[in-house]
Amino acid sequence: MTVVGPFGASVRDSALEADIRTGLAAVEAGLIEATKSDVPFITEAAQHLVRAGGKRFRPLLTLLAAHFGDPHAPGVVPSAVTVELTHLATLYHDDIMDEAEIRRGVPSANARFDNTIAVLTGDFLFARASTIAAELGAEAVHVQAEAFERLVTGQIRETTGPGPDQDPVAHYLEVIAGKTGSLIAVSGRLGALLSGADESVIDVMAQYGERIGVAFQLADDVLDIASDGEESGKTPGTDLREGVVTMPVLRLRERVARGERESAESDPALRRDRELLALLEGDLSDDGRLAEALAGLRAHPALEQARRDARSYAEQARRALDPLPDIPARRALAELCDAVALRTT
Ligand code: IPE
Ligand code: IPE
Ligand code: MG
Ligand code: MG
Repeated sequence: MTVVGPFGASVRDSALEADIRTGLAAVEAGLIEATKSDVPFITEAAQHLVRAGGKRFRPLLTLLAAHFGDPHAPGVVPSAVTVELTHLATLYHDDIMDEAEIRRGVPSANARFDNTIAVLTGDFLFARASTIAAELGAEAVHVQAEAFERLVTGQIRETTGPGPDQDPVAHYLEVIAGKTGSLIAVSGRLGALLSGADESVIDVMAQYGERIGVAFQLADDVLDIASDGEESGKTPGTDLREGVVTMPVLRLRERVARGERESAESDPALRRDRELLALLEGDLSDDGRLAEALAGLRAHPALEQARRDARSYAEQARRALDPLPDIPARRALAELCDAVALRTT
């Protein structure tokens, strides 16, 4: 496992890169320390996914945001540790909800242990994240708790789906702003806050994080369909198999609805789109049907549209950086927008 991760290439300035590398190494040490328990089995369960790696996207944001104040202020590395621990805890829980078997290229905690161990280890990780946040002060705890509430609200609203009068795409964008954007925004906010950066920088990091977080999730949705699992460390098609409706499927539904309004019943494109949608909305527990559904969606313009959605949010994130001073950290944050958009291709 590298300490800089797949997004490290976005940091092009060599002095900044060296600094980030040192910071991420300290974050790794902090993660190992924070996941130790007096009970050896708990340490093993809690460190299972820490040691498996991961992109460390959120700690990277925290460290970059800290460059708008004192990047070596004592609270910066613990801030990065607390956001990564919170993220990690949500992965333990999310994999139970999604019945996922692979995470970070290794068996998920629910697969390696069982659901009970996975849910309680997730809780243990939240407890440790809270302890560290408490040491950072009341504002850090507040920001963290607020994001966590939005995160679980997003996860619950994903499960319940849109109401009858809600636009499904608008609902989905709210869901992912909550489940993913909130914690990514906090990653940047805490880095800026604990470095002593100006209030205006903290605001920019919140705006930026929210938008790049949505782009990040949209890219992840595309990868669930388009990737081979090597790159993502997860099993492709997990969303489809579990019936989790993400942007590519929503965009396909929109096309079908439009076709039904505007095209003749005999229109071959409409017929093909309907067939694909019926396949996607049916039982995909069979591997053959899942492979067929994945192949159909991979070749469909709805997937391309979901890619454009991701790029559009990445672009909005970049624009949110406009008020910041032009320093290497800002350039790295801008590069990250490209890197997130590029993941979809
Ligand atoms: C996975 O997050 C969950 C999403 C919000 C898409 P990451 O893609 O950051 O997962 P790791 O940390 O690299 O494993
Ligand atoms: C993850 O959502 C969001 C959180 C863990 C809060 P997903 O279900 O889309 O993420 P993956 O695909 O399992 O990583
Ligand atoms: Mg999941
Ligand atoms: Mg999920």
